Amino acid sequence: GTTLKAAAEANGRYFGTALEGGDLGAPGETAVAAAQFDMLTPANEMKWDTIEPSPGAYNFGPGDRIVQFAKSHGMRVRGHNLVWQNQLPSWAANLPLNQVRSAMESHITAEATHYKGQVYAWDVINEPFNGDGSYVQDVFYRAMGEGYFADALRTAHAADPGAKLYINDYNIEGVNAKSDALYRLARSLLAQGVPLGGIGLESHFVLGQVPADLQANIQRFANLGLDVAVTELDDRIQLPASGAALQQQAADYAAVVKACTAVSRCVGVSQWGVDDAHSWIPGTFPGTGAATMYDGNDQPKPAYYAALSALGGS
Ligand code: G3I
Repeated sequence: GTTLKAAAEANGRYFGTALEGGDLGAPGETAVAAAQFDMLTPANEMKWDTIEPSPGAYNFGPGDRIVQFAKSHGMRVRGHNLVWQNQLPSWAANLPLNQVRSAMESHITAEATHYKGQVYAWDVINEPFNGDGSYVQDVFYRAMGEGYFADALRTAHAADPGAKLYINDYNIEGVNAKSDALYRLARSLLAQGVPLGGIGLESHFVLGQVPADLQANIQRFANLGLDVAVTELDDRIQLPASGAALQQQAADYAAVVKACTAVSRCVGVSQWGVDDAHSWIPGTFPGTGAATMYDGNDQPKPAYYAALSALGGS
């Protein structure tokens, strides 16, 4: 048979995954990553707490190792992320508000310059919305209001004009209050000439709950002239996973892949992690898991074959 990446490339798209630095020592997992995927997201290594743990002191080693793995296996890189309230060191979270803009701009400039030409896309702003569509009242919003989006995107563009610049969030896969708020923001940024290039739909799904309007939602962002990517796909199951659940998961994965390939501006799908053994899901949602296309022994599950077949591969 073929591979996810070959089938995605035949559709003009990519199929990505995410790895942590610690995963680079896991032979089964890295073999699957290299064989099946052509886009790589560092799960933690490009976040602010790793990159700039104290003001102006940059630590690019862990991110560089992920980039090196990607390069040596012909994978591109999604940079994740430049501005986020989580995994933000306390020195930054607690800055006097009149110092936040310059700290944010310095951080973005240093990181995007270091990786200039090496990342396909940046998640410039990560998870800025609450579920009701209001803004998270993080230090960036409190310091700059809605203006921080334009400022962050312009700063990233100046440092690496070749990277596609994204806003990335979760629970925005269907049409709802949160995705409506993001849609209005995106439209307003584009009207101001801000270099927003794409929208990342994280897509951390619960079994059987892929929104029926996923494709329509992708399409409305595409209609603004934006790329759309599924950036962190997984689909969690109540453990132990039954055969029926694994079949439903296969249907869920196929639905996501088809919603993406149906919209020309949907550029690719990335799964969050490679296999069930290393997935973040059981640690965060106890009692659930089995959320990826590969089981704990790096064997493909029904979801793998469904995703492949939805791409026209076999
Ligand atoms: O590295 C330390 C290790 O030294 C320590 O022993 C261990 C004990 O808890 O923690 C390790 O750090 C953990 C880190 O992952 C590396 O594995 C952190 O506790 C843990 O909080 C952190 O979780 C990450 C999470 O983001 C934090 O927000 C996950 O790996 C990462 O997959 C996850 O990724 C996010 C995306 O960035 C944004 N969207 C949601 C997605 C899933 O939560």
